[in-house]
Amino acid sequence: MRIHDKIFQPYISADLLQKRVGELAQKVAADLGDIRPIFVGILNGSFMFVSDFLKQYPYACELSFIKLSSYSGIESTEHVRSLIGMDENPEGRTVIILEDIVDTGNTLETIYHIFEEKKVADLKIATLFYKPESFKKNLKIDYVGFEIPNKFILGYGLDYDGLGRNLPEIYQLKTDTN
Ligand code: IMP
Ligand code: MG
Repeated sequence: MRIHDKIFQPYISADLLQKRVGELAQKVAADLGDIRPIFVGILNGSFMFVSDFLKQYPYACELSFIKLSSYSGIESTEHVRSLIGMDENPEGRTVIILEDIVDTGNTLETIYHIFEEKKVADLKIATLFYKPESFKKNLKIDYVGFEIPNKFILGYGLDYDGLGRNLPEIYQLKTDTN
């Protein structure tokens, strides 16, 4: 499949995504017990993950979204900006970040900084995808859906220069080695 100038091939099916997201929701629910969390989705990439995760989360919970940005094209940049903040006061609450993908960790570092100031009772990170080869930070990631190699992916909320978010499955950039 061609998106802009690049060729992508199927990588993770819609069924497998649903199954894994359901497992993550059950795991978080089991760990939290009767604590009512605020889930915080990181826009735009996490919108499908957040939607499917919350549908499979069995207990009472709240939801907010924040928007940050570090990507331009297929390159991660050092500068992560906060574009939209959250209205809810998370002080004293358990906040679970729902992130689409942790790559270099720049975005995650910004998230930690934002929430350190807010005196949350507990901050946990759940990411659907994690690229360990690319991760450069010493920051805790509590829940990982899929560990993946350092290759660009799109679909299921993730884009390449604005395209591909609507795809219900994940595609991987086709390179000379695959
Ligand atoms: P980081 O700040 O380098 O960890 O990048 C995190 C953000 O970059 C994610 O929330 C995504 O929006 C974007 N990103 C990182 N890797 C990919 C990818 O393979 N495909 C699409 N977007 C990505
Ligand atoms: Mg993102």
